[in-house]
Amino acid sequence: MILDIIYATQSGNAEEVAQNLNLLARSKGFIVNINEMNFHNINSFRQLRNVAIVTSTYGEGEVPEMGIEFWNELKSSKTDIPNLRYGLIALGDKSHEIFCGAGRAISKKLEELNCKKVIKNLECDGDTEGTQEWSIKFLENLKKFN
Ligand SMILES: Cc1cc2nc3c(=O)[nH]c(=O)nc-3n(C[C@H](O)[C@H](O)[C@H](O)COP(=O)(O)O)c2cc1C
Repeated sequence: MILDIIYATQSGNAEEVAQNLNLLARSKGFIVNINEMNFHNINSFRQLRNVAIVTSTYGEGEVPEMGIEFWNELKSSKTDIPNLRYGLIALGDKSHEIFCGAGRAISKKLEELNCKKVIKNLECDGDTEGTQEWSIKFLENLKKFN
Protein backbone atom coordinates (compact mmCIF):
# COMPACT_ATOMS: atom_id res chain seq x y z
CA MET A 1 0.00 0.00 0.00
CA ILE A 2 1.26 3.48 -0.80
CA LEU A 3 1.34 6.05 1.99
CA ASP A 4 2.08 9.73 1.44
CA ILE A 5 3.43 11.59 4.44
CA ILE A 6 3.17 15.36 4.23
CA TYR A 7 4.70 17.61 6.85
CA ALA A 8 5.10 21.28 7.68
CA THR A 9 7.59 22.31 10.31
CA GLN A 10 9.41 25.44 11.42
CA SER A 11 11.92 24.09 13.91
CA GLY A 12 12.02 20.38 13.06
CA ASN A 13 9.61 18.61 15.42
CA ALA A 14 6.99 17.79 12.80
CA GLU A 15 9.69 16.56 10.43
CA GLU A 16 11.06 14.23 13.10
CA VAL A 17 7.58 12.84 13.81
CA ALA A 18 7.03 12.40 10.06
CA GLN A 19 10.36 10.60 9.67
CA ASN A 20 9.56 8.24 12.54
CA LEU A 21 6.24 7.41 10.90
CA ASN A 22 8.09 6.89 7.63
CA LEU A 23 10.40 4.30 9.23
CA LEU A 24 7.56 2.54 10.99
CA ALA A 25 5.41 2.39 7.85
CA ARG A 26 8.29 1.01 5.76
CA SER A 27 8.96 -1.65 8.40
CA LYS A 28 5.32 -2.70 8.02
CA GLY A 29 5.55 -2.99 4.24
CA PHE A 30 4.10 0.34 3.14
CA ILE A 31 5.61 2.12 0.16
CA VAL A 32 6.15 5.62 1.47
CA ASN A 33 6.55 9.04 -0.11
CA ILE A 34 7.49 11.75 2.34
CA ASN A 35 7.45 15.42 1.34
CA GLU A 36 7.26 18.92 2.66
CA MET A 37 3.73 20.24 2.39
CA ASN A 38 4.43 22.74 -0.39
CA PHE A 39 5.73 19.89 -2.57
CA HIS A 40 2.05 19.25 -3.31
CA ASN A 41 -0.45 21.41 -5.08
CA ILE A 42 -4.15 20.72 -5.01
CA ASN A 43 -4.00 18.61 -8.17
CA SER A 44 -1.24 16.29 -6.96
CA PHE A 45 -2.91 16.07 -3.54
CA ARG A 46 -6.17 15.02 -5.13
CA GLN A 47 -4.48 11.92 -6.61
CA LEU A 48 -3.39 10.58 -3.21
CA ARG A 49 -5.24 7.79 -1.44
CA ASN A 50 -3.56 7.26 1.95
CA VAL A 51 -2.17 10.36 3.59
CA ALA A 52 -0.59 11.30 6.91
CA ILE A 53 -0.33 15.00 7.66
CA VAL A 54 2.00 16.25 10.37
CA THR A 55 2.00 19.98 10.97
CA SER A 56 3.03 22.37 13.68
CA THR A 57 1.47 25.82 14.16
CA TYR A 58 3.31 29.13 13.90
CA GLY A 59 2.62 32.84 14.01
CA GLU A 60 -0.85 33.17 15.46
CA GLY A 61 -2.45 29.85 14.66
CA GLU A 62 -0.89 29.61 11.22
CA VAL A 63 0.56 26.89 8.99
CA PRO A 64 4.40 26.95 8.90
CA GLU A 65 6.01 28.64 5.90
CA MET A 66 6.73 25.36 4.08
CA GLY A 67 3.01 24.61 3.91
CA ILE A 68 1.44 27.97 3.21
CA GLU A 69 1.20 27.74 -0.58
CA PHE A 70 -0.40 24.32 -0.36
CA TRP A 71 -2.74 25.43 2.41
CA ASN A 72 -3.89 28.46 0.43
CA GLU A 73 -4.80 26.21 -2.50
CA LEU A 74 -6.51 23.62 -0.31
CA LYS A 75 -8.43 26.28 1.60
CA SER A 76 -10.02 27.69 -1.55
CA SER A 77 -10.74 24.29 -3.10
CA LYS A 78 -14.36 23.21 -3.37
CA THR A 79 -14.13 19.82 -5.06
CA ASP A 80 -14.69 16.78 -2.84
CA ILE A 81 -11.92 14.17 -2.48
CA PRO A 82 -13.93 11.22 -1.13
CA ASN A 83 -11.27 8.62 -2.02
CA LEU A 84 -8.61 10.18 0.19
CA ARG A 85 -8.08 8.54 3.60
CA TYR A 86 -6.04 10.47 6.13
CA GLY A 87 -4.76 10.89 9.64
CA LEU A 88 -3.41 14.12 11.12
CA ILE A 89 -0.97 15.01 13.87
CA ALA A 90 -1.05 18.63 15.03
CA LEU A 91 1.86 19.97 17.06
CA GLY A 92 1.31 23.09 19.09
CA ASP A 93 1.54 24.66 22.49
CA LYS A 94 -1.31 25.67 24.77
CA SER A 95 0.54 28.81 25.84
CA HIS A 96 -0.54 30.21 22.44
CA GLU A 97 -4.04 31.55 21.95
CA ILE A 98 -4.95 29.46 18.90
CA PHE A 99 -3.88 25.97 19.99
CA CYS A 100 -2.94 23.72 17.07
CA GLY A 101 -4.59 26.19 14.71
CA ALA A 102 -2.89 24.87 11.58
CA GLY A 103 -3.74 21.22 12.17
CA ARG A 104 -7.31 22.04 13.18
CA ALA A 105 -7.88 24.23 10.11
CA ILE A 106 -6.49 21.62 7.70
CA SER A 107 -8.51 18.86 9.32
CA LYS A 108 -11.72 20.91 9.16
CA LYS A 109 -11.17 21.60 5.48
CA LEU A 110 -10.49 17.93 4.70
CA GLU A 111 -13.74 17.01 6.44
CA GLU A 112 -15.59 19.59 4.34
CA LEU A 113 -14.11 18.01 1.21
CA ASN A 114 -15.46 14.64 2.34
CA CYS A 115 -12.05 13.03 2.88
CA LYS A 116 -12.13 9.99 5.17
CA LYS A 117 -10.47 10.39 8.55
CA VAL A 118 -9.28 6.95 9.69
CA ILE A 119 -8.20 8.01 13.20
CA LYS A 120 -8.91 10.89 15.57
CA ASN A 121 -6.47 13.80 15.21
CA LEU A 122 -3.60 13.77 17.68
CA GLU A 123 -2.90 17.18 19.21
CA CYS A 124 0.41 17.58 21.04
CA ASP A 125 0.98 20.29 23.62
CA GLY A 126 4.61 21.40 23.73
CA ASP A 127 6.06 17.97 22.93
CA THR A 128 5.56 15.01 20.61
CA GLU A 129 4.19 12.62 23.21
CA GLY A 130 1.87 9.94 21.87
CA THR A 131 2.99 10.19 18.26
CA GLN A 132 4.47 6.68 18.15
CA GLU A 133 1.31 5.07 19.58
CA TRP A 134 -0.83 7.14 17.20
CA SER A 135 1.34 6.07 14.24
CA ILE A 136 0.96 2.37 15.05
CA LYS A 137 -2.82 2.71 15.30
CA PHE A 138 -3.03 4.87 12.17
CA LEU A 139 -1.23 2.26 10.05
CA GLU A 140 -3.43 -0.54 11.46
CA ASN A 141 -6.55 1.44 10.62
CA LEU A 142 -5.36 2.18 7.09
CA LYS A 143 -4.91 -1.53 6.49
CA LYS A 144 -8.46 -2.15 7.75
CA PHE A 145 -9.95 0.54 5.49
CA ASN A 146 -8.12 -0.64 2.35
C1 LIG B 1 6.92 31.93 17.13
C2 LIG B 1 6.08 30.74 17.50
C3 LIG B 1 4.71 30.78 17.31
C4 LIG B 1 3.90 29.69 17.66
N1 LIG B 1 2.53 29.79 17.50
C5 LIG B 1 1.74 28.77 17.93
C6 LIG B 1 0.31 28.88 17.84
O1 LIG B 1 -0.25 29.88 17.39
N2 LIG B 1 -0.43 27.83 18.28
C7 LIG B 1 0.13 26.69 18.81
O2 LIG B 1 -0.62 25.79 19.22
N3 LIG B 1 1.48 26.56 18.90
C8 LIG B 1 2.31 27.57 18.47
N4 LIG B 1 3.67 27.44 18.57
C9 LIG B 1 4.24 26.19 19.13
C10 LIG B 1 4.79 25.22 18.06
O3 LIG B 1 3.78 24.83 17.16
C11 LIG B 1 5.34 23.98 18.78
O4 LIG B 1 6.46 24.36 19.53
C12 LIG B 1 5.71 22.85 17.84
O5 LIG B 1 6.12 21.71 18.56
C13 LIG B 1 6.81 23.27 16.88
O6 LIG B 1 6.98 22.23 15.95
P1 LIG B 1 8.00 22.35 14.70
O7 LIG B 1 9.37 22.22 15.26
O8 LIG B 1 7.64 21.20 13.83
O9 LIG B 1 7.76 23.64 14.02
C14 LIG B 1 4.49 28.51 18.22
C15 LIG B 1 5.88 28.48 18.40
C16 LIG B 1 6.67 29.57 18.07
C17 LIG B 1 8.16 29.50 18.31
